[in-house]
Amino acid sequence: MLRTAATRSPAYPEHLRAEVERYLESLRFSGDPACARLEEAMRYSLLAGGKRIRPVLALATARALGRRPGSVLPLAGAIELIHTYSLIHDDLPAMDDDELRRGRPTCHRAFGEEVAILAGDGLYAEAFKLLLSEQRAEPEALLAAACELASATGVQGMVGGQYLDVAATAPPGPAGLRRLHELKTGGLIAASVNCVLLVGGDPERERMALFRPFASELGVLFQIVDDILDVTGSQETLGKRQGSDERLGKRTYVSEFGLDGARKLAAQSHERARDALTAVVPSTQQATELIQITDFIATRSY
Ligand code: IPE
Ligand code: IPE
Ligand code: MG
Ligand code: MG
Ligand code: MG
Repeated sequence: MLRTAATRSPAYPEHLRAEVERYLESLRFSGDPACARLEEAMRYSLLAGGKRIRPVLALATARALGRRPGSVLPLAGAIELIHTYSLIHDDLPAMDDDELRRGRPTCHRAFGEEVAILAGDGLYAEAFKLLLSEQRAEPEALLAAACELASATGVQGMVGGQYLDVAATAPPGPAGLRRLHELKTGGLIAASVNCVLLVGGDPERERMALFRPFASELGVLFQIVDDILDVTGSQETLGKRQGSDERLGKRTYVSEFGLDGARKLAAQSHERARDALTAVVPSTQQATELIQITDFIATRSY
């Protein structure tokens, strides 16, 4: 891994990240020697040191609701498994054809394409197994969270967004671009907030409508900044290849609005996310970690 805690923004909730890291490290998927290399590939990509924004966001949401962050670790872990699967498949030769991820050779470079495809498939299924078998919640609440997660990652979420991205079928104009980003990236980030509310059962479920503007704005902000960093970042700090979007002719906030325009839109989105957060969690103390994540997403350099 290229980055260390010392190079990260000091405002990032490192204690939550460490909790997530320990939990992910403890996960095993198979004890069968015949599947050892598949397990190795899954853990290779999972434990390569991502920022863990989505699971940290889930833990921070639990804290903002007055719950113990550790109480949603299985849900948070499941979200990171799904995110890692999406990265493995996103990097495949048939998709973005990238050779570096999280500071290491991509999964297909290290293990071959057939293993990488299966590692992604495996992570996706294991995510739901983890959520449904380990997350403590009322059955109905758990079902609602699982449904939200499936929806955020299915055709009306991440996979649909990835399709619009590779097939270049997003509607033209700013609304079409925002839709692309909402689907391919925003959905899973928003689910990291929404699913925590859902596992909390009825009283918290009612607060979901209030949290939604924050959760969805944060997701779009994340991808606008990802688009900017693809142009302005370096391979060393990003841990992935710089310039992939231009090489592939991708439609991004930078291709559509230019670098300055994208930066302005990111700043506006950041402000909207902060305002939406203040509206639902007025106590700054309770929202400390959510504020830190929001600011980190806007100002990050990797
Ligand atoms: C990268 O996500 C992929 C996108 C959705 C843009 P992250 O920037 O969160 O990647 P990691 O998890 O830190 O590696
Ligand atoms: C990927 O978007 C979004 C996913 C669902 C994985 P990108 O293709 O921009 O992600 P990076 O830049 O390769 O991380
Ligand atoms: Mg992509
Ligand atoms: Mg990519
Ligand atoms: Mg990108």
